[in-house]
Amino acid sequence: MHHEPVMLSEVLTITEQYPHARIFDGTLGLGGYSEAMLKRFPGSYVFGVDRDTEALRFSRERLKGYGARFESTQQNFGSIAEVPGANSFDVYAFDLGVSNMQLTVSERGFSFNTDGPLDMRMNPDSESPTAAEILNTYTAEALTEIFRTYGEERYARQIASAIKRNLPITTTAQLVNLIRDTLPQPVQRKMGTHPARRVFQALRICVNNETGELESLLKSLPAITASRNALIIFVSYHSLEDRLIKYAFREWQKNGAGRILTRHPLTPSDEETQRNYKARSAKLRAFCTNEN
Ligand SMILES: C[S@@+](CC[C@H](N)C(=O)[O-])C[C@H]1O[C@@H](n2cnc3c(N)ncnc32)[C@H](O)[C@@H]1O
Repeated sequence: MHHEPVMLSEVLTITEQYPHARIFDGTLGLGGYSEAMLKRFPGSYVFGVDRDTEALRFSRERLKGYGARFESTQQNFGSIAEVPGANSFDVYAFDLGVSNMQLTVSERGFSFNTDGPLDMRMNPDSESPTAAEILNTYTAEALTEIFRTYGEERYARQIASAIKRNLPITTTAQLVNLIRDTLPQPVQRKMGTHPARRVFQALRICVNNETGELESLLKSLPAITASRNALIIFVSYHSLEDRLIKYAFREWQKNGAGRILTRHPLTPSDEETQRNYKARSAKLRAFCTNEN
């Protein structure tokens, strides 16, 4: 399984300037950040968290050579306060969104390139509704709102109405075909991206309550890191998420919790975006607590 961690060199460069003996990787994924940190900082200990059982299985296998220096657990980062010892780390890193494994395994239903059931749950054992359940039970108005807010889809209303006229929708290919049939041809030609990308992104964010999870994490972090020097790093891929992080950092700084390290977010180099399509929308923001 190939996965190139996004903005890894920037993450490592910031991390090495601050204490980094104990590192919390809140979005373990395929273990790309964790492995790079374990390698680069020989005395470090990394604790990895992910909500996805498959991601945990994969990265535990990948990192088993690091022995007791690496441990992990299944958890939603929105519930970080429930992780034992959550307040004992020097670095907290969060690389939001989906992993390549989630995107490429068609049975997970995240991909508009392969056919599969419309699931999209990052934790398939969770009781949250699947993407198909959302499409088949939410009203056209509610779907329109989801596609607009999380996908910035201009044709949200037309797509939502088409979905309601063609129920039930159960597979990714069905949804892709329906979007292709709904969007005007000239619009599709000018998009420069897959016509279903925005709707798939919106559904994924909704199914996994990604905004709610991020809000809850941002609420918890100040208490978890209070009165210690801790470095907090976020890599995000959506303007909605970036805005939440930016405003939370401003608020923390105003309240004397520490200092924003990135007045403007860092973005990947041209070379990285050319090499790795996923990096194109990445923004990195960092905050150091208790450093004024
Ligand atoms: C972009 S990938 C991380 C990739 C990782 N940095 C690497 O280099 O391999 C994001 C990961 O975060 C996980 N994730 C997303 N939201 C989460 C949440 N609320 N709680 C825990 N894990 C989450 C996803 O399951 C996915 O595996």
